[in-house]
Amino acid sequence: MQITELSIPSHERVLRCEDASTGLCALIAIHSTVLGPALGGVRMAEYADQGAALEDVLRLSAGMTAKAALANLPLGGGKAVIMGNPKQDKTPALLAAFGRHVEALGGRYIAGQDSGLTVADLNQIATTTRYVVGTDDAVAHGRTRASGDPSPATALGVLHGIRAAVRQRFGSAQLSGVRVAVQGAGAVGGRLVEHLAAAGAEVRVCDIDPTRVEPLTDLPNVSAIALADWQTAEVDVLAPCALGGAIREDCVAALRAAIVAGAANNQLATLGAGAGLHQRGILYAPDFVINAGGLIHLKRRSDGADDAAVLERLTTIDPTLTIIFERSSDENQAPSAIADQLAAARVRQGAFRLQRRQAA
Ligand code: NAI
Repeated sequence: MQITELSIPSHERVLRCEDASTGLCALIAIHSTVLGPALGGVRMAEYADQGAALEDVLRLSAGMTAKAALANLPLGGGKAVIMGNPKQDKTPALLAAFGRHVEALGGRYIAGQDSGLTVADLNQIATTTRYVVGTDDAVAHGRTRASGDPSPATALGVLHGIRAAVRQRFGSAQLSGVRVAVQGAGAVGGRLVEHLAAAGAEVRVCDIDPTRVEPLTDLPNVSAIALADWQTAEVDVLAPCALGGAIREDCVAALRAAIVAGAANNQLATLGAGAGLHQRGILYAPDFVINAGGLIHLKRRSDGADDAAVLERLTTIDPTLTIIFERSSDENQAPSAIADQLAAARVRQGAFRLQRRQAA
């Protein structure tokens, strides 16, 4: 086990974790523990180089701090990436080695699921650390408890967020007849399509994997849309639920939707894309606010809350977004900028309270 501490001023700690015997090469980024332990998913992916992996983990971990702050959860922000192809390089030994690195951090970082990892993989990580959420009941132990797949809660939270945005833009939260184009029909996007169809929306959906789209088109008012046509579809809501960077600054002019509200992390390729949406009057639901349902589920379930309590808490995404939309309108600033400011203020308040407690 080899650990190298990287000095990154924006983050509390960033560690490169290596293990020659299993081929593990991972980065764990703890952005902030001011509001609580840094909970964040573990992503396994092939990166062009370590610089690209570092950039990803730094951005994602900072996003987790903001997400927890605006969801009012006593959590900080962290994230981990394991460099490698999840289909070829993921072995039980490699995951166990990663878990040992997480355990060595003593609970400052709590690992969860992200792309490239399954609940079974988290079970494997949980063989060597107590600091993991999203495992299933069979392996739950120690301080954290089983919480399972967060995707259904994320999808439901996004549905609440879409309702908030539709109310803000059209005056009613009714989704009947509202036209939504969903990009990515995976764990979250697929469920979101089901919820939208059940609420009477007219849904168009695309995915690079057509087998994910096909079963959804059996639902009422759901049809497929070509990948190339998704972004410029004549719809009310664009819901990016695939990977990050779906909304690029240079594409904003071509959008025909009134709202962008979906699950994907880092939906805006650049800050300028957020400003561009605002200038065009397209209402954007900041990603780390609307997609917080999974984090809410993981935290509340691992604290012992039942399903009803988690569902109740997911509804708070709607009023949080409404506050952001109202401020955005009052102050003529993009909702993404307002959300960043609110999150930063909550962290500052937390730091102030912490200092006072330490001084007392
Ligand atoms: P997933 O991997 O299950 O689904 C992603 C889907 O997008 C896949 O079906 C994939 O084929 C498709 N896809 C990839 N590139 C595409 C493209 N260019 N065009 C169309 N489809 C494309 O992932 P999941 O869990 O559904 O997550 C979706 C997004 O939501 C990700 O950005 C993730 O970071 C974010 N998110 C997920 C949470 C969760 O609880 N799973 C929580 C918060 C955010």
